[in-house]
This record gives sequence, structure tokens and C-alpha cells, in this order.
Amino acid sequence: MCGIFAVVNDKTNHAAQTVLAGLKKLEYRGYDSWGIAIKPTSLTPGVQKLQVEKHIGKIGEAKTNLPEGTIAIGHTRWATHGGVTDENAHPHLDCSGKLAVIHNGIVENYLEFKEELIKKDHQFSSETDTEVIAHLIEEKVKHQNLVSAVFKTFNDLVGSNAIGVIDFESEIIIAARNGSPLVIGVDEINHQYFLGSDVPAFLKYTNKVHFLDDGEAVVITKTGIKLFDLKTGKEKKLNWQTLDWKLEDAEKAGFPHFLLKEIHEQKETITKAALINEKEILEMAKLIRQGYKTVFIGCGTASYCALAGKYFFANAGITSENYGAYEYLPFLKFTNNKTLLITISQSGETADTLIASKAAKKRGAIIVAVVNARGSTLERMADIVLPVGAGPEIAVVSTKAFTAQLATLYLLTTAITNKYDEGKNKINKLADVLKDWLNPVLINQLIDTAKSLMKEEHIYVIGKHLNYPATLEFALKIKETSYLHAEAFAAGELKHGVITLIQKNTPCFVLASNDETKNEILSSTAELKARGGRIIGVAPFESPEFDELIKTPDLGDLTIFGNIIVGQLLGYYLGIGRGADPDKPRNLAKSVTVK
Ligand code: F6R
Repeated sequence: MCGIFAVVNDKTNHAAQTVLAGLKKLEYRGYDSWGIAIKPTSLTPGVQKLQVEKHIGKIGEAKTNLPEGTIAIGHTRWATHGGVTDENAHPHLDCSGKLAVIHNGIVENYLEFKEELIKKDHQFSSETDTEVIAHLIEEKVKHQNLVSAVFKTFNDLVGSNAIGVIDFESEIIIAARNGSPLVIGVDEINHQYFLGSDVPAFLKYTNKVHFLDDGEAVVITKTGIKLFDLKTGKEKKLNWQTLDWKLEDAEKAGFPHFLLKEIHEQKETITKAALINEKEILEMAKLIRQGYKTVFIGCGTASYCALAGKYFFANAGITSENYGAYEYLPFLKFTNNKTLLITISQSGETADTLIASKAAKKRGAIIVAVVNARGSTLERMADIVLPVGAGPEIAVVSTKAFTAQLATLYLLTTAITNKYDEGKNKINKLADVLKDWLNPVLINQLIDTAKSLMKEEHIYVIGKHLNYPATLEFALKIKETSYLHAEAFAAGELKHGVITLIQKNTPCFVLASNDETKNEILSSTAELKARGGRIIGVAPFESPEFDELIKTPDLGDLTIFGNIIVGQLLGYYLGIGRGADPDKPRNLAKSVTVK
């Protein structure tokens, strides 16, 4: 929802610039405003305060005029409490201006605190829930040391939260986590210490990280980092790990946008997904063969992956269920210790997915996390983890994580029917075929198609069976990236009402595969064509029903990968043409950590 970043011992003495650069890497987490607080190296006589700069708007081209310093915190915001204004942007100061707070999450009980604090003459300058945290610490620090004042304040907050606090006097940063992600990094050569909501923020300096758990806090001073248990206040051992992520993973690598880079990366990431997790997949296959009931859950794109998982299973003769994680609770009563809950998530931090998973875990279900980001809450609560290895996904809309998850579920299906090696070969072949297929001729065709759709208001997408989840994902990519209304239907649904929407030249995409659904989908296509629809086939075959064809590789049950990638690319080019920012669509955030 929001991005947190901080540095201690900045070796350039330009901590504000370092924080700004880190925040730019986190912009996908929130992009309506940003801000930085720094303790300047040279203090203006008579000014014993942190210096703060805050602005509304995107951070992309932003510059900061803050003075030199080696310690600073910063934040990129996705508004929850309080409108998008400079005042509401973080960091928020206490009355003395010596303490500043950045925050990701929602303080559900902030109003009761605010009333009390106002009675005690605290001056508020924003409408946010975050500002109360600064004043609560200020109040508590009158009676105890700063570290325990921060811990106590944080423990009193209700909701899912992560905070970072900078103190002018002691020059330390304290951070605490309960439900919202935080990670620290250490650059051992230069003794620089970093705090972030996510690793890409400081990947330029280090890949040696410790992911904070809920209930943990860190105190970062010039001489090092200490980890604490928030409830007991006792020091804990840091669990450092070195990630295999490289700096290039968080750069655009010559592409104009992360989204385009990540779409093209699928040529490699899909194969990578097939190289990992073999042991875990075979273990799960065994459980499913033993009679465990499989339930797939996820939100948004991940929920379409969950639905595709159900179709993969059905095609292999295995029963399963699927739910949007936000709709799972009514069905929780059917969950028990014979349930395998396969939770799909790019970030592993989506609140709805976590709530459903925690509830299922309480009922004894085995939780399987099919995740991309590492060190997430979901990963840590899961009994079995299938990391999909797509690397940092920076664009807000999900592409490469989705196809890596899809490949993982496909492999799981083949493992259950003892065809794992065959499945692996098919995934590898898919990646090879994609390399040839994603060529300039295809891209030019998609750009032309996007141009022809630029002024449309509605487009429709139909598909059958496995192509049904593919249509949902195809339409979502177009909606998110270009703000064009795209609606997906199961082909069979058309004649039950939807067909009223089709008029002369209404653009209709038909997603198809060369399989047993071909004739039926072509019959539905004929119904659209008879109403004057402009029919654009996305399929590995030609048909007189199609006015245009975007040809995709013919790969049996893996044909949907190409069909979906067409939607990703069309969304991207439509977004560019319609003036949207493909990496940061309006109103969206990369990790939806609130209910
Ligand atoms: C769509 C998209 C969202 C996410 C959804 C779940 O492009 O990115 O629909 O798929 O918010 O997020 P994760 O996968 O992080 O749980």
C-alpha cells in the first residue's frame, strides 16, 4: 500500500538523495505523494529539528533540495486516511519536530488516541492516522527511553501496520512490524544500513537481508542493527540471508517501462519456474493422491490463476475447489486437516489472502504458498512454499509472476498424474516457442490492433474452459493498464443475456485453443458475428469466423499462456496510446495490505 525506506550511515552524505532513489524503486507500492525527513550534517544555528520535504504527485522525476546528511527516512504514499495533500504525505512529525514517523497500514484506533492527544495540547497538521503515532511516542518518551516508547506505542496500535521512526537527538531509526512488510539490508563493505518495505529499494547496495516477522522491531544505529521482540523487549538473533536477486532485476534494462520488460522476461521466467520446487511439488502430489481436498485461493490476477488451476486439475481427472480469497470465509466450515489450501499470491502480503489462509490454518488445513516475492507473511505462515522465481515484479499489474504461478500449478497437475517429467518438458518447450513467437512482426500487429481500439469504450472477451480464466486475465490486463472497459465472459454465457451488448463493430476478442472446445467456441463466435461484432481471434488456428487473427502458438493445454500474453501486450500498448502510466495505473497499489 505504501513504501517505506530509510538509510543510516549513507556513505555519500546525501542520505536524502539515496532515500529518494530508493523510494522511486518502491513507487509501485503507492504513488499519490512522497516525503523525506533527514537530520542534516550541518545544522542551521538555532534550528534543532529534522528537515522534511513532502510533495503530492508521482515521484518519478522528483528531485529533493534537502541538505546533506547520513541518516534519513522516506515514504511513498497510497492514501487511506486523509486526502492526497502535502500535509497528509509522510513523514509526520511530533510537536518538537525532532521525531518523524513513516507508516504503512491503518491504525484502526487512531481517533481515540487523537482525541486524548488534542486534550494534552498536541498540535496536528494532517488528517492521517499516522500522525498520532509521532505524538504518542512524544508523550511516552517523557517517562521512558525512546526505544521502549516506540515499542509501547506500536503495541497499542490496532490494525496491520509497519512503522519507521527517526530521532534527531540519538540519530537512530527504529522500525516495527505487525502485518505490513519490512526488510532490512546491510552493506557490510561501507557499513550502510537500510530499511525498506521491499528489497528492490536497496538492491543497488546489498542483497544481504533480514525479513522482519510480525511482532519484531529493529533499532538501527551508526554502529549496527539490533532485532527485538516487541512484546518482551528482548533482543533476538538476526536471520540474515543472501538473495539471488541482482541489481538488473530492479532496473528497466533498456525497456521504456517495467511492464514491458516483465512481459518479455516471461520467455525466461516460465522455464525457471519449472526448474524449482520439484521436491515440494512431488510431496504435494502425494498428499493429493492420498485424498487431501485441494482448494485454490487468490485475489485479482492470482484468483484467475487459482481458477486455471481448477481447470488443469479437472482436465487431469482431479477434483478441486477455487475461491476468490475475499469470498472464502463462508466456505471455511468445509475446511479441515484433510484440506490442502493452495494460496496464490505475487506479494504474499495481500490482506484478503492472508486472512483466508490464517483462518484455514486454524482449522488444520495444510497451507501451500505459491508466491513470487520472498520473505513474505504468506511464505512464513505456509507449511509448504512453492516460490515461483520470477524475480522482482515492479510494474503494479502482474504478468510474469502470474505465468510463473500458472506454470507451477500445471507442473503440480502433471505430478499428480505421474507425468511430472513430461510436464517439465512441455513447459520448457513453451518457453522456447515463446522466444520465437514474441517477435517484431507480432509486436507490430499488436500495436496496430491497439491503435484501432484506442477510441473504443467497451470490448468483450470470450473463451471456454481453460480459456475462460485466460479471458478474465486478458480483460483485467486491458482494464488496469489502459482504463478501457473490457469484460470477459465464458463463451457459453453469451446467449443468456450478454449478447444484448453486441452491436455493429463492437470489438470482441475470442480466445481459443486447438482442442475439444474449438467447435463450440466458434459457434459462440458466429453468434457474435451475426450481431455485427468485430471478431478478433486470439488462437493458434484460422477460421472464417474471425475478422482478424492474432495467432498464438499451438501448445495444447498450454496455449492459454500465449493467449494471455496477447492481453498483457495489448493492455500495455493501449495504455501507452491512451496516456496511462503502464507501470503505475491510477488508484492501484502493488500489494493490497488492507481489507
Ligand atoms: C492484477 C494485480 C492484482 C493482484 C492482486 C493480488 O494485475 O496485480 O489483481 O493480482 O491484488 O495480489 P497478490 O498476487 O500480490 O496477492
